[in-house]
Amino acid sequence: MYNLNSQNIGELPKQMEILLDKNFDIISNLSNASAIIKGFAPTLNWAGFYIMKNGELILGPFQGKPACLKIAVGKGVCGTAVKENKPLYVPNVHEFKGHIACDSESNSEMVIPLHYPNGETFGVLDLDCPFVNGFTTEMQAAFTECASIIEKAIL
Ligand code: SME
Repeated sequence: MYNLNSQNIGELPKQMEILLDKNFDIISNLSNASAIIKGFAPTLNWAGFYIMKNGELILGPFQGKPACLKIAVGKGVCGTAVKENKPLYVPNVHEFKGHIACDSESNSEMVIPLHYPNGETFGVLDLDCPFVNGFTTEMQAAFTECASIIEKAIL
């Protein structure tokens, strides 16, 4: 059974592995994934997913305030991570040209692209923090590991 009581971010990937059910619907799994991330990383103000649909990113399961419904590839931190097909860590979003301020509380952001098994982009894991430089190296490592665990549930 997964354990949400632990506040040790290093525990998050293991708990994510236990929580996700690869044989179940991806939207249900992403909903639980966003909840467990927010539970383990209470300093985040937003944790969730944007999913590629008809060539753009649309809002998926998340925890946090209501967010923009869609983001074009190449726009914002999310769209740039998809365009460049690489994880992006932005310690100060106000210094990122084109940052999309869905929640004005956000000051740092991490976005990790997620892929289908064939390498095609499925979407992104998007994490926002109200503090400048709010992601410790432990957090970055845990979220990166989580993204590859979540990818295994994308069929
Ligand atoms: N800040 C993001 C938009 C999504 S919200 O953070 C939830 C961006 O620049 O892509």
